[in-house]
Amino acid sequence: MSTRRLAPENVQPDSFSFNSENADWAKGQIAKFPEGRQASAIIPLLWRAQAQEGWLTRAAIEGIADMLEMPRIRALEVATFYFMFQLAPTGAHAHIQVCGTTSCMICGAEDLAALCEKLIGPAHTVSADGKLSWEEVECLGACANAPMAQIDSWVKGGFHSDYYEDLTTGGLEKLIEAFRAGDYPRPGSEIGRFASEPAGGLTSLDADRTEPYNAAVAIAVSEGAA
Ligand code: FES
Repeated sequence: MSTRRLAPENVQPDSFSFNSENADWAKGQIAKFPEGRQASAIIPLLWRAQAQEGWLTRAAIEGIADMLEMPRIRALEVATFYFMFQLAPTGAHAHIQVCGTTSCMICGAEDLAALCEKLIGPAHTVSADGKLSWEEVECLGACANAPMAQIDSWVKGGFHSDYYEDLTTGGLEKLIEAFRAGDYPRPGSEIGRFASEPAGGLTSLDADRTEPYNAAVAIAVSEGAA
């Protein structure tokens, strides 16, 4: 667990501004709320700033508070409350959040954290090559696919925030090396689960009671997913 404080002043940039694409997107978000309720857009705007900059700087937090015409302390309260907001610089390619809560812990999260420490360095610091960082976080809600990690990445020209599930140390090592090399490995389950169906194989039958039935796949296919 980290202490939720802003990064030291010597790493804080002097200013922040959204790029033109994000500025247009921010205007759209703000317009979703009634006049006088613009502050309700605080979380998506902070998240977009983090996606743009890699972490949430003091200038970004205060600049967004000003955009939303809300007291800066309120924006600082939001940014320092939620662990999804990174308050210090992260790796230029990826930031790995290893879930360390009960389900993941009993399925091997401690080994995953130890591997991150070995390959990246201490938690909440950026690796020597500047490309990677990691931390341990609380339950990310994918307990059925434990152990897992959420990986925010800035590779292949875009920002991604994905779940990587059913992880082994060998699988995580491959992910770390892929992100280090600037690749974008396919998110999802390491053992090929589509969603949170039983890891040991399907246990329900279809309506005819003849074939194994995967409800998650059936819904996805009916919605046109690949
Ligand atoms: S315990 Fe890890 S996702 Fe819930």
